[in-house]
Amino acid sequence: MTTLDAPTELARFGDLDIRWDRRVLRPRAWTTAQSHWAAALSPHCPDGPILELCCGAGQIGLLAAVLSGRPLVQVDRDPAATAFARSNAADAGVPSDVRTAALADALQPEELFGLVIFDPPYVPTARVSEFPEDPVGAIDGGFDGTEQLVLGLGVALRHLHPDGHLVVQARDTDQAEVVGRVLDGLGQGRSPRTVLEVRDYQPGGVLLDIGPGA
Ligand SMILES: C[S@@+](CC[C@H](N)C(=O)[O-])C[C@H]1O[C@@H](n2cnc3c(N)ncnc32)[C@H](O)[C@@H]1O
Repeated sequence: MTTLDAPTELARFGDLDIRWDRRVLRPRAWTTAQSHWAAALSPHCPDGPILELCCGAGQIGLLAAVLSGRPLVQVDRDPAATAFARSNAADAGVPSDVRTAALADALQPEELFGLVIFDPPYVPTARVSEFPEDPVGAIDGGFDGTEQLVLGLGVALRHLHPDGHLVVQARDTDQAEVVGRVLDGLGQGRSPRTVLEVRDYQPGGVLLDIGPGA
C-alpha cells in the first residue's frame, strides 16, 4: 500500500477522537501533557486564540482549546496534516483557522497571540531511519535536530504577546538548553522572555514553558 491510499485511523487523545493516517505523525499519548500544560497556563495569558505551530492532525492544540475554551489558529506546511486538523476541529466543535503554510509565511506581522504551542520536528537527520513508521517531513529536524526548533522559535516569539506563554516541545534536555541559548542570544529587548520551567517526559520528549521574564 502506498501512503496515498493509507486508511484513516482513529486515535483517542484525552477525551477527543482524532482522525489521522500514515501521511502524518501518529498522535502520541504523552503529548496530551503539552495540551494540559497550555490549558493550565491559559488563565494567566492574554485573551484570544491559541496559536499552534506544526499542528499535524491538530490534536495537541485541539485538546488545549477544548480545555481552555479558546479558539485556535493552526499552522502546518503539509496539506494532508491541515486537512485532518480542519476536520478534527470541526468534529470537536472548536473554531480553528487552519493555515497550510511554512512557519515563516503563515502569519501577518501584526498578529499576536497570548498562548502559543509549538511542536517541531526534532530528530537529527542521521537518526530519522530509526523511526520508519513516521513521515520524514514530520520528524526530520536537520543535522542536529534543532533546525526547525530554532526557526520556529523565532516565529513563535515574534508573534507571542509580551505577557503570553509559549509551550514548546523538544527531544531532550540538550535541545531544551539550545532553546535557552536562543533566548539569551535574542538580546532581550522590549519583551524579555525566559524559560520558566522544563518538564521531562522521557522517553517521549521534553516540554518547556517560555514566558515573561528577564
Ligand atoms: C513533530 S510533527 C508534530 C505534529 C503534531 N503536532 C503531532 O504531535 O502529531 C511536526 C509537524 O510540523 C510540520 N512542519 C515541519 N516543518 C515545518 C515548517 N517549516 N513549516 C510548517 N510546518 C512544518 C510537519 O508537516 C509536521 O506535521
